[in-house]
Amino acid sequence: MSLTIKHLLGLRSVPKEDITLILDTAKGFQEVLSRDIKKVPTLRGQTVVNLFFENSTRTRISFELAEKRLSGDTVNFSSAGSSVKKGETLKDTIRNIEAMKIDMVVVRHQSAGVPKYLTECTNAVIINAGDGSNEHPTQALLDMLTMRDRWGALKGLKVAIVGDILHSRVARSNMWGLATMGADLWVCGPETLIPQYMQEFKGVTYTNNLDKALKNAKVVMALRIQLERQSTGLFPSINEYRARWGITAQRLEKSGCSDALIMHPGPINRGIEITTDVADGPNSAILTQVTNGVATRMAVLYLLGGGREHAAE
Ligand code: CP
Repeated sequence: MSLTIKHLLGLRSVPKEDITLILDTAKGFQEVLSRDIKKVPTLRGQTVVNLFFENSTRTRISFELAEKRLSGDTVNFSSAGSSVKKGETLKDTIRNIEAMKIDMVVVRHQSAGVPKYLTECTNAVIINAGDGSNEHPTQALLDMLTMRDRWGALKGLKVAIVGDILHSRVARSNMWGLATMGADLWVCGPETLIPQYMQEFKGVTYTNNLDKALKNAKVVMALRIQLERQSTGLFPSINEYRARWGITAQRLEKSGCSDALIMHPGPINRGIEITTDVADGPNSAILTQVTNGVATRMAVLYLLGGGREHAAE
């Protein structure tokens, strides 16, 4: 079994069969990660460069751990402290890194489209770790793995994504991916934080009525308000946002979704988009998402890297 894609740039045009193969492969890696020795020789001899131009805690550590668990050689690059600061172009940067014989590049960048551009500059496999407000495909894949582990099939599953949809690459990748998998996906937030191109997302329902979005939902995903990507105020005040769009226990109960799986890609603005009791409550999968990130990224690296079967070392 192999993927139809050569790079993972986003989920927009990834077929259902590829998503299913990645999620099924990640299940195998969850088992590897439960062993005493959490390491397999799958990527031995391959070198992965983690090229991070934007801040990250979860994604960066998760990719690095996934690469180490697969016995790959890893190199970490941050734009801070690199020759980018002396004016070196992105194309020159990647071509110089490629000249050192690397196999895969994991890239996070503040500009949408950079992972795609890199595929035109290098022969290495490119994996998008978040590009501007465009896509964050491995986050959506780990989200789907977490939902599938809890509820079984994604088809028909009611998922409500609430908050700053406009700036969220996580929402975009989930919208593409969950629509492909046949989920009943609702997005909800202030109209100023909803993209004008919502109609592109077939099978996704938008409402600004939070109670309607939450009604009988099996998964509720709160998104971080991305103040750093907002040049003008897109809602009157944090207090108003919290009162109207914040995920609280009372709101979940009122909407008949007290048993919903609670998700958030992190980092959380506690007490704004979600209350602490919900974020840390019994139905919260927020740290499970982080745990599943390693297995999911191992699956992506393995399938794109053409690695060996994952018997123990
Ligand atoms: N979810 C996510 O992408 O988190 P980081 O920005 O910490 O990587």
